[in-house]
Amino acid sequence: MKILAIETSCDETAAAVLTEKSANPFLLSDVVSTQIDIHKEFGGVVPEVAARAHMEAILPVIEKALKDSNTKLKDITHIAVTYGPGLVGSLLVGVETAKGLSMATGVPVIPMNHLEGHIYANFLEAEPKLPLVTLIVSGGHTMLVLMRDHLDYEIIGTTLDDAAGEAFDKGAKLLGLGYPGGPIISALAEKGDQNKYSFPIIDLTKKPTKNESGFLQKAEPSMDFSFSGLKTALLNKVKTTENLDETKIRDLAAGYQKAIVESLVQNSLRATKKHKPKSFILSGGVSANKKLREELKKEIEKTGTKFYVPDFKYCTDNAAMIGAAAFYRIKNGNTKKGPFGPEPNLSF
Ligand code: KG4
Ligand code: ZN
Repeated sequence: MKILAIETSCDETAAAVLTEKSANPFLLSDVVSTQIDIHKEFGGVVPEVAARAHMEAILPVIEKALKDSNTKLKDITHIAVTYGPGLVGSLLVGVETAKGLSMATGVPVIPMNHLEGHIYANFLEAEPKLPLVTLIVSGGHTMLVLMRDHLDYEIIGTTLDDAAGEAFDKGAKLLGLGYPGGPIISALAEKGDQNKYSFPIIDLTKKPTKNESGFLQKAEPSMDFSFSGLKTALLNKVKTTENLDETKIRDLAAGYQKAIVESLVQNSLRATKKHKPKSFILSGGVSANKKLREELKKEIEKTGTKFYVPDFKYCTDNAAMIGAAAFYRIKNGNTKKGPFGPEPNLSF
């Protein structure tokens, strides 16, 4: 088996080649061309600019992935490509390229869900045991998912408004910092005092309700998230703080990050205590956040559940993770069949 994986859902053009080793996915090459410098000056990803940059980068990136892995196109047995969720113009470039390569080679294309890729980034260098719970935290999604088996997903918590990555990005904007906000806030926060300003930790657990006999029944702890109130709290602090100098910005960044991380840890712990999984895996771009990695590991391991997080380079968007997820789809004979196109709002 030799999988060529392609990922172009947002602002990274990526390709990877994977094979099988001891019944696990094995990465032969991994190429990521990031557009961060292009979008920086606009303060965020500009969809049309992203699509154009993908068009320019996609073939050289695929060629490099083949070359780095010492693989000829004719040796590829499967082509895996992200078809959603993401930006439609960005997705289209990857999907059409994959289809073109498939027509030229006769190799089947496997349409892949980007979020499934983030989860399987954890299987590139480790073998987390199932059942597992995963916290997916990216720029567009924040969810807790229970996996009783491979490719079997039950969403047990989700955000009611912003995603955690979005909270970082919007927070950075409010503080007058650059894009992407997550890495910038996290770097500033390291030098700040996280207890100088207090931010609300949102707990969506409802009040107790009365059952049919009129007795009060305890509400189940909620595993849902909300980050929009936190953003408003930051906006208010920015507006009311005089002389917003570097030290104050660091302290605000640290306090804001602490609140996001505590909310993620709180619900992850609830999910772990309720479902008692063998593993807890962290996935998505925000899993590159050092504080989140450390706090979550510390708290999850106290429960006896094993904790996994991908290496930094596999946290943010890449094609290696798409190939790893495709590996499990191929192994389980569970690949999506029939015609497909980009699906920007593809659900899980
Ligand atoms: O998974 P990803 O690369 O793209 C999406 O699928 O959305 O995630 C990007 C998100 C952005 O919101 C970015 O600010 C956030 O991940 N991010 C971080 C860090 N590195 C990336 N957030 C917090 N701390 C970081 N170190
Ligand atoms: Zn992503």
